[in-house]
Amino acid sequence: MAPDARPIGVIGIGWVGLVTAVCFAEMGHSVVAMDIDAKKVRGLSRGRVPIHEPGIDERLERNRERLTFTTEMEDVLEFARLLFCCVDTPPTYSGDADLSRVQAVVSQLPPDGEYALVMKSTVPSGTGRAIRRDAPGIAYVSCPEFLKEGTAVQDFLHPDRVVIGADSGAEWAADEVEALYRPLGGEIVRTDVASAEMIKLAANAFLATKISFINEIANVCEEVGADVTEVARGMGLDQRIGPAFLRAGAGYGGSCFPKDVSALKQLAGNTGYHFQLLTAVIEVNELQKRRIIGKLQKHLGALAGKTIALLGLAFKPDTDDMREASSLVLAARLQGEGAKVRGYDPVAREAAGKLLPSVELTESAADALEGADAAVIVTEWPEFAELDWTSLRERMAKPVVVDGRNFLDGRALSKAGFEYEGIGLANGGAQAGATPPAESAEASPR
Ligand code: UGA
Repeated sequence: MAPDARPIGVIGIGWVGLVTAVCFAEMGHSVVAMDIDAKKVRGLSRGRVPIHEPGIDERLERNRERLTFTTEMEDVLEFARLLFCCVDTPPTYSGDADLSRVQAVVSQLPPDGEYALVMKSTVPSGTGRAIRRDAPGIAYVSCPEFLKEGTAVQDFLHPDRVVIGADSGAEWAADEVEALYRPLGGEIVRTDVASAEMIKLAANAFLATKISFINEIANVCEEVGADVTEVARGMGLDQRIGPAFLRAGAGYGGSCFPKDVSALKQLAGNTGYHFQLLTAVIEVNELQKRRIIGKLQKHLGALAGKTIALLGLAFKPDTDDMREASSLVLAARLQGEGAKVRGYDPVAREAAGKLLPSVELTESAADALEGADAAVIVTEWPEFAELDWTSLRERMAKPVVVDGRNFLDGRALSKAGFEYEGIGLANGGAQAGATPPAESAEASPR
């Protein structure tokens, strides 16, 4: 692909900003990426990637000459005129999105009509309109990101769709953004700013609703002796429903679903509309994270003094992101019950050390299981399916496995002498056997 005449600006080099910068560079564009964190910028300039995301390291390496990292906004403004805003918008106590970092970016842009701000950060519907009112000289484009952590590079380079929202006066900027994304394929959805902002929130809220729905179905399956993996398979083959996001488990986490669901609920609330369904989605998710405790009590009785090994601490595999991870809720609840908690994660050890200071973090799954009364699969890292569970059983004080992701082969574990219990599986999953990941209802294995 021919290099663009003018570099692209990226403001905020978090997970979204870094993937955006590196992937545009991979497409042949020059990119100037800016962040206020000088240590991060220094590291990136030397080729050091601060996050665990498959496919980033090698792309950063082979596109080093096209990528400039800086702490100065002036460097971005000197070279680029399309500015991709990728700063974070964390939730406030009330559940609203905190827009202070977005506002700080806007306040640094000259109001002379030369620049376009392309909003990648997730913001409530109405943000673009407010920015245009306060800074009418800036062309504003809403271009929400739909990347998934762990597969973000592939998602960027092969999008299902690219949503580009612009209002009158900013069409030139929307055209430029469309030209950037067109070579990637995927449907381009041109719309107005408020609708583009709403598409992002509605998409995440719908996916979260699907997860809470299947989790409630799983809980009913346990009562009636049905198997949720079979139910999800049968449901997912209906094209109107689709197979994705029907994996029951210990609840959704991460930096996006919990934040975006409450932001949409709050956004509606601010207009006087009570979004009843989302209130239930959030509540079901919180309860789901806690159901693991009941399952452990069923097998072990009171948990005081018991040692519980949490396998997988990141909010999902292939990331070291611990934000809103189910492991955080579980560890706190277990400790509240008086249990001793051990934890192991192949990549999130450093992040876990900061967030779980009273959990004993081990170097391997086997170390976590040594003398443990139970193992809980919290995150479905592939290596957990490859463990030699038969020999590990000898090292555990009690052979109890609670599989919060229906990831292991329950039948095989039961044969090996384990008390196995999954989520929403007939007979706990011991007789039926959990569906192995490759056959799961999710379309693409992660
Ligand atoms: C999510 C969306 O999928 C992306 O499209 C969006 O761009 C992103 O949020 C964002 O707003 O930035 P992500 O948070 O990376 O992406 O993670 P997902 O793969 O969607 O998983 C979210 C959570 O749902 C995880 O905790 C996962 O374990 C859980 N999940 C997912 C289930 O419990 N069941 C499922 O069937 C699918």
